[in-house]
Amino acid sequence: MFPEMGASEKEVLRELEEKTREDLTFDSGKILGSMCTYPHPLAVKVVMRYIDRNLGDPGLHVGSQKIEKEAVDMLANLLGLEKGYGHIVSGGTEANILAVRAMRNLAGIEKPELILPESAHFSFIKAAEMLGVKLVWAELNDDYTVNVKDVEEKITDRTIGIVGIAGSTGLGVVDDIPALSDLALDYGLPLHVDAAFGGFVIPFAKALGYDLPDFDFHLKGVKSITIDPHKMGMVPIPAGGIIFREKKFLDSISVLAPYLAGGKIRQATITGTRPGANALAVWAMIKHLGFEGYKEVVREKMELARWFASELKKIPGIYLIREPVLNIVSFGSEKLEDLEEELKARGWGISAHRGYIRIVVMPHVRKEHLEAFLVDLRSIMAILTQ
Ligand SMILES: Cc1ncc(COP(=O)(O)O)c(C=O)c1O
Repeated sequence: MFPEMGASEKEVLRELEEKTREDLTFDSGKILGSMCTYPHPLAVKVVMRYIDRNLGDPGLHVGSQKIEKEAVDMLANLLGLEKGYGHIVSGGTEANILAVRAMRNLAGIEKPELILPESAHFSFIKAAEMLGVKLVWAELNDDYTVNVKDVEEKITDRTIGIVGIAGSTGLGVVDDIPALSDLALDYGLPLHVDAAFGGFVIPFAKALGYDLPDFDFHLKGVKSITIDPHKMGMVPIPAGGIIFREKKFLDSISVLAPYLAGGKIRQATITGTRPGANALAVWAMIKHLGFEGYKEVVREKMELARWFASELKKIPGIYLIREPVLNIVSFGSEKLEDLEEELKARGWGISAHRGYIRIVVMPHVRKEHLEAFLVDLRSIMAILTQ
């Protein structure tokens, strides 16, 4: 009910505290199945300081707009371009929708089709529905990467583009993006890489010596990349990233916003009014941690993920779906349903999907949290396999 009279600030805050007691928090160490994390303290400070900035009306907040452009360029730079075109958006979903919108608008084809791996995130289903694009799903190989031959066989004269995944949602698998890029170039199609998760992992993991395929703008067929600072970038939600190689992609999705207080602009994002503070936090985090800082975060979490995978393998009745590629470890069990239920009853923030449980070793996940999880897992499995 909408209250007739207002309550005191103290009362409102007390009620909020009481109601959010049900929430699982990242600092509890119980959230192991999320791609979000507790944001970095500097990013929190920046968001609080600049909470009123609206990048939907950049004429008013010219400084913030310049900072967003710098953030986009730094992300583009991380991904192999000197200069990129794009935005800090609300997340991977919006970034993927914008990429599909650009591919559709530039193709200008009737009954457009988009080819994407069966492992692709559900945001593409939303994009397809909203944009009237038919999704054509390509099969996966035994290692869960997309089958490039199957992608090729599915190309028709209605194809507007191809999607590859660099860090799949379920398993953190990186598709053979070099082969997809070659294919895209051969057929004159744009390749969009969904690196919502992997974008803030793969460049650093490669620098640490992990053997991972190229996935970014170094490959000429790659025309756009989704990269989410609110995942491994440690920026508060909402902070996604869409980077295009060429200006024409951004232009193709820009519409006139004629009435803004800061003056007319052309706007490409799905959201009109949108937070400047989070874009500033992306800029601040990149400046603060730099390549070496993020590399250290990735080093620790990649090593922890491998240790965790090796411990899982020792538990009777548990098997890995595949060796971890990034800092995601997914495992199955014949008793999956009972296991999921029991883990949830013990307060763990995990879920089972496609026949496995996914653990994402995010920055807030520490070894002692995984050790506590393993204690529970061992004891549940001992009961279930009796
Ligand atoms: C590969 C991939 N793409 C896109 C998304 C969507 O991101 P968001 O939830 O920030 O919209 C996710 C989310 O987990 C993802 O894993």
